[in-house]
Amino acid sequence: MINLFLLGLPGAGKGTVSEQIVDKYHLTHISTGDMFREAMANETKVGLEAKSYIDKGNLVPDEVTAKLVEERLAQPDIKNGYILDGFPRTTVQAEMLDEITKRLSKPLTKVISLEVKEDILVKRLSARFMCKKCGATYNKITKMPKEKDTCDRCGSHEFYQREDDKPEVVKNRLEVNEKMNTPLKNFYQAKGLLTTVNGEQTPEKVFESVDTVLSDN
Ligand code: AP5
Ligand code: MG
Ligand code: ZN
Repeated sequence: MINLFLLGLPGAGKGTVSEQIVDKYHLTHISTGDMFREAMANETKVGLEAKSYIDKGNLVPDEVTAKLVEERLAQPDIKNGYILDGFPRTTVQAEMLDEITKRLSKPLTKVISLEVKEDILVKRLSARFMCKKCGATYNKITKMPKEKDTCDRCGSHEFYQREDDKPEVVKNRLEVNEKMNTPLKNFYQAKGLLTTVNGEQTPEKVFESVDTVLSDN
């Protein structure tokens, strides 16, 4: 059983490698960012609250995020293992997750940190665009749709840039997340769960490195 926490700064490739992991290991992908974006699109109470933080590149309050994750981890499709992408993001959240996984008897088994330098992160985020319909992620430099203006996954022709990928927000987002990154890694290093992976390689190589960690039991 693999219960993975995938750690990495904005643009490190958490979403990209998660898709590859899901294809091979059939784990359930839980991205708090994706969940918030869905809630924002549906204008739910959580979505409206989250929007005021996300659009500025700040963190949504720990209690709101942890509640969302606990509800998700309690669903039956988690029984074959999960990938947490983007949660926890603070050591307070990491402690909350310890409590949650204890209550649900679904402890983390691995933590992988994708390591990417800041200048590369900025480039990746400013070149990213998304499918409006299914949320598939593309990149103007490294990952254009196979057929021009057509989503590979759902065939839609409408794309958008995430509000928090605009240059003025990216700067704050990176700052906010960088502050928390080292304490978070130390937290999981101390538990003996952490492996770091070079996230600056090609997506194929990043997955190979992650796969090596996951298949080593
Ligand atoms: P979230 O959506 O999780 O954003 P993030 O952490 O900033 O990470 P990203 O999704 O931007 O990057 P990624 O690592 O998934 O990279 P991707 O694969 O897309 O969270 C958004 C917001 O929600 C937060 O800012 C916060 O406000 C709130 N939130 C979420 N969780 C929270 C929490 N726990 N607590 C409080 N608030 C929370 O790749 C990026 C680009 O690079 C793509 O274009 C991709 O095609 C390209 N790319 C990927 N890998 C490679 C590669 N190896 N080589 C070249 N290009 C690559
Ligand atoms: Mg993501
Ligand atoms: Zn699509």
